[in-house]
Amino acid sequence: MSINSATAIAHPNIAFIKYWGNRDNSLRLPENSSISMNLEELVTRTRVTFDPALKTDIFDLNNLRQSGSELQRVSAHLNLLRGIRGVATRAHVLSENNFPSGAGIASSASAFAALTLAALHALGIEMNNAKDLSRLARRGSGSACRSIPSGFTEWYRGSSDMDSFAVSIAPPSHWDLVDCIAVIESRHKKTGSSEGHKIAPTSPFQQMRVADANRRVERCRNAVLSRDFAALAEIMEEDSNMMHAVMMTSRPSLFYWEPSTIEIMKAVPSWRKAGLEVAYTIDAGPNVPLICTSASLDGVRHRLSSVSGIQDVIIARPGGPAKIV
Ligand code: PMV
Repeated sequence: MSINSATAIAHPNIAFIKYWGNRDNSLRLPENSSISMNLEELVTRTRVTFDPALKTDIFDLNNLRQSGSELQRVSAHLNLLRGIRGVATRAHVLSENNFPSGAGIASSASAFAALTLAALHALGIEMNNAKDLSRLARRGSGSACRSIPSGFTEWYRGSSDMDSFAVSIAPPSHWDLVDCIAVIESRHKKTGSSEGHKIAPTSPFQQMRVADANRRVERCRNAVLSRDFAALAEIMEEDSNMMHAVMMTSRPSLFYWEPSTIEIMKAVPSWRKAGLEVAYTIDAGPNVPLICTSASLDGVRHRLSSVSGIQDVIIARPGGPAKIV
């Protein structure tokens, strides 16, 4: 193989119905289906260059050379993609995020979506089927499969590797929602989601969370499709609370919240009572993504300004699909 490169961009996504726990950790087959929204203003840009002169893969993230588990994970994913083409050529991966990595803003989703797309393109593998692209991205990081299609997406639990992928359920223009992320901590989180998924079954609540997941997915899908904010708020907060109940009762227990996280969670219902269309959903970190309508954004920002411990507020609107640039 001669030197071949390609560049792709992908947006992270915020899950309205969460993915937590796998029924197969190596294939990253989820216990339950999930629903999310891509985030337009947040971007991962990844250039992959396959070069026969390289002895090992090289991975640079935000201008920092990566080693250890970060590099291994990228290499393992490249091996999967190289295997499709039957080549062993090593690659240089150059990736940049315009948002903090590892702070519960799901950087692994956009990272593996962009890596999958760029690498396949550079390898000359034509993926005519978006489902297959989403399936492959899933193998790098589960939530990455949801960053492949556009706008609001649903990741089907599926019955096997073949039918567990994400599809778009509505384009970005469908609903004028905003993700207003209260950044409480922008450093790398201690326990990443890959570890968290593995211990999810140790919580006695995980089984109940999973058994009830189809109901939540259906309610959320209907709320999105009918632009029913009150219904979305209710199911989204319930789902986030259920996931954190599982996290807190896993062995070892995972506590991702900081005092400011809880301060916001407790305040949001009163902000809603005062007329704002806003709801929280929290991932594997202390930051609080607040989903609100465009009309409520100024009010949400104003209220956030009196909460202590907030380092930054990041605004993102519904985003497009992963693409070659
Ligand atoms: O794709 P992962 O392994 O980073 O898992 C994502 C897990 C959550 O962000 C907590 C939930 C979700 O569905 O995005």
